[in-house]
Amino acid sequence: MTDSTRRDFAARYGPWALVTGASSGIGAEFARQIAGRGVNVVLIARRTERLTTLANEIQNRHGVDTQVIDIDLTLDGADTRVAGGVGEREIGLLVNNAGLGRSGRFIDQRANDHARMLDLNCRAPLLLAHWLAPPMARRGHGGIIFTSSLSGLMATAQLAHYSATKAWDHFMAQTLHAELRHEGVDVLSVCPGPTDTEFFGDGEFQPSRWPKAARQQMSRPSDVAQAALDGLGRTSVVVPGVSNKIIAAARRLIPERYIARLTDRAMRRVMRVRSGP
Ligand SMILES: NC(=O)c1ccc[n+]([C@@H]2O[C@H](COP(=O)([O-])OP(=O)(O)OC[C@H]3O[C@@H](n4cnc5c(N)ncnc54)[C@H](OP(=O)(O)O)[C@@H]3O)[C@@H](O)[C@H]2O)c1
Repeated sequence: MTDSTRRDFAARYGPWALVTGASSGIGAEFARQIAGRGVNVVLIARRTERLTTLANEIQNRHGVDTQVIDIDLTLDGADTRVAGGVGEREIGLLVNNAGLGRSGRFIDQRANDHARMLDLNCRAPLLLAHWLAPPMARRGHGGIIFTSSLSGLMATAQLAHYSATKAWDHFMAQTLHAELRHEGVDVLSVCPGPTDTEFFGDGEFQPSRWPKAARQQMSRPSDVAQAALDGLGRTSVVVPGVSNKIIAAARRLIPERYIARLTDRAMRRVMRVRSGP
């Protein structure tokens, strides 16, 4: 990246970015790359030690300031606590990235777990965007990224509620993109396909159960963050990776109810397979 591109990014989206889910995976990469573009970063997640280690790494490598806010974003009043921690810092870029997913049948999962997913994947991004977009609009510049998913672009059975929350993220990004572009605020939905992070945990849908070809297609979190940051201000949707782009395009040719049946069949097959040795 040239010095002038870096300066332009910092002028448009600085002086501070706020990244949720910064303690691992795609969020940690967002934080590193935003810092690499000369913007100070507020790092948000629950695991304090991870955030502090990342904050030190970023400060040493890129010479920017960081702030750690360790918080569970599903709790009532989390947005108020975040606002208190941020104080007078001017946030020019919000990355609504923290998220969780659960695979398996909707009815086999506890209602409380679904509600927590809704709080993290939708309610927290809603409250943060509603707090931070107005000052960006008043200043006439800024950016908001929603980390959606390929499954937010297609009805994915066996990930039913997750898929619905990610469709919410995607639609919020598209509608805010249309509304806020008049105020100079860029909004983007990034829709990664399977990405090599801690996201899958050790559940039924973990990558060790996938066909080898699918494992080999997994994106790297650094590529996802870079594609999103490169796309911000240029477009409203980024689907990182060639195979994911093909799926996203092909999906438009098939009615949603068939997509749901196809994904149900494919996911059941993967989840039945026992983990290898
Ligand atoms: N990996 C994939 O295949 C994939 C594909 C498409 C979309 N995505 C999306 O990408 C985003 C990032 O996921 P990832 O793949 O990077 O997975 P990850 O490594 O598990 O990261 C999830 C992040 O969210 C944070 N988080 C979880 N629960 C939280 C809570 N209650 N309060 C605050 N922070 C919380 C985690 O930090 P703490 O545990 O420290 O709180 C962590 O930093 C998610 O929105 C996910 O839906 C992932």
